[in-house]
Amino acid sequence: APFKIGYFVGSLATGSINRVLSKALIKLAPEDLEFTEIPIRDLPLYSYDYDSDFPPAARALKEAIEASDGILFVSPEYNRSIPGALKNAIDWGSRPWGSNSFARKPAGIIGASVGSIGTAVMQSSMRSVLSFLDAPQLNAPEAYIHYDAAVFGDDGEVKNEGTAKFLRHYMDEYCAFVQRVLAANAPGHI
Ligand code: FNR
Repeated sequence: APFKIGYFVGSLATGSINRVLSKALIKLAPEDLEFTEIPIRDLPLYSYDYDSDFPPAARALKEAIEASDGILFVSPEYNRSIPGALKNAIDWGSRPWGSNSFARKPAGIIGASVGSIGTAVMQSSMRSVLSFLDAPQLNAPEAYIHYDAAVFGDDGEVKNEGTAKFLRHYMDEYCAFVQRVLAANAPGHI
């Protein structure tokens, strides 16, 4: 059976380079991964006033995370950190207290930037957040993508064989990692 991957695009921009990267990753991923985007655009800003009664968009978000075998974050770096819209979505998914949807979910973090830092500082912030939320993370390979518009087609086509090979390798390793965590999470496994 295919493994269900819920992916987040951390940008709301129409021309998001991270959305393009997500399309490229889906094209290059092994066939046993099946991708569904987990949308973040319609979430209100989180407050614990909602904890007794989550709005529909937040319920849908938590259900989508919980229905996924693995989570993939494809996100820009904004001001050396996680974009607000994405952090808001993570806050929703982590609550109400005692029902953190990210617990034990295998997670991958990747991002593209127009700068040469390739979202490294965002990814470092994200690792702290996901560690706190008890989400196991693919530690290696790391993938800091410097976005070159000549390399990526809008539909996710990757025109440079070296880049395609690197992204394919990332997704192969991500797939193997998700399977390892699922095996470790299985009932009866210590
Ligand atoms: C940026 N950008 C950026 N780039 C980076 O490498 N490090 C950073 O800290 C920031 N900070 C930042 C803040 C804000 C508010 C914006 C709008 C942009 C540039 C960023 O890499 C570029 O806009 C990308 O196109 C963002 O990815 P999306 O939204 O196109 O997927």
